[in-house]
Amino acid sequence: MTRTPVVFSFLEDKSLQKALCKSLHFQAGNLKTHTFPDEEVLITLNTEVKNKPVFFVLSTDRPNGKIMPLILAAETAKALGAQSIGLITPYLAYMRQDIAFNQGEGISSKYFAKLLSTYFDWLITVDPHLHRWQSLAEVFTIETTVVQAAPAIAKWIKTKVQQPILIGPDLESIQWVSDIAQRCDAPFLVVEKTRLGDEKVTATIPKLEHYLAHTPVLIDDIISTGMTMIETVKHIQSYGITKTICLGVHALFAKDAYNKLLQSGVTDIVTCNTIKHCTNQIDINPLLVEAVQLKMG
Ligand code: R5P
Repeated sequence: MTRTPVVFSFLEDKSLQKALCKSLHFQAGNLKTHTFPDEEVLITLNTEVKNKPVFFVLSTDRPNGKIMPLILAAETAKALGAQSIGLITPYLAYMRQDIAFNQGEGISSKYFAKLLSTYFDWLITVDPHLHRWQSLAEVFTIETTVVQAAPAIAKWIKTKVQQPILIGPDLESIQWVSDIAQRCDAPFLVVEKTRLGDEKVTATIPKLEHYLAHTPVLIDDIISTGMTMIETVKHIQSYGITKTICLGVHALFAKDAYNKLLQSGVTDIVTCNTIKHCTNQIDINPLLVEAVQLKMG
């Protein structure tokens, strides 16, 4: 007998939990996090999970304070007899350290994947940062599903931007920027970018001179310090182009990145709702619900 799955959400924004309950008739779980004076946490699952598939929803941006409560919740569900434990993490952290860049460093993406693979049976995420890893299967030992934001992004561009020229942040972005370009029938270019430090990058866009009448739409998977976008916007402005839209899948916006990007003279900053932010204009929840539905068969 299949029991009604229970979905617990660690997010303040319960919209994904609600969408799963409404569309797939999951039960909304109630989870309580108590933080002791010494900053240890206690998780209480106030909804029966015995023999039921259990899902946890949590984006792992700013991951370090979130991971311990997540592991405690997963282990608590297991101890209470959950049939299976899945993680829906619209943003998957730690994927950018996919190589030891310097002597003495480790490969955090591998270790983080190993950690999550220990506590969960499967994972669903949106556009993880895959650069040197071709797929999540190279680092995760559990079943993983990747939801692509491309259809939702293409739809937004088609409806909101006249005569767009899409611009990918670096060479590895070609695959997804070209896909979005095809979906919205727009041309695309790719930035030649050099990262000189955490907050220092240089960016140039070959062939931009052919698209001076277009509206540039910069599309990146992650906006963190915002420097990739800011340097690219500066380069675009040097061609006399004054309208630029910055579109990111994951709105990390470290420290004052959002204000800095706003001040760079962009026309609009748009992100997907994988991480809650005032720039969220593209709703990914329907794509996540569809992925979960497929996963549940
Ligand atoms: C890098 O490979 C990613 O695709 C993004 O371009 C990068 O993470 C953006 O970072 P920032 O906003 O700090 O320039």
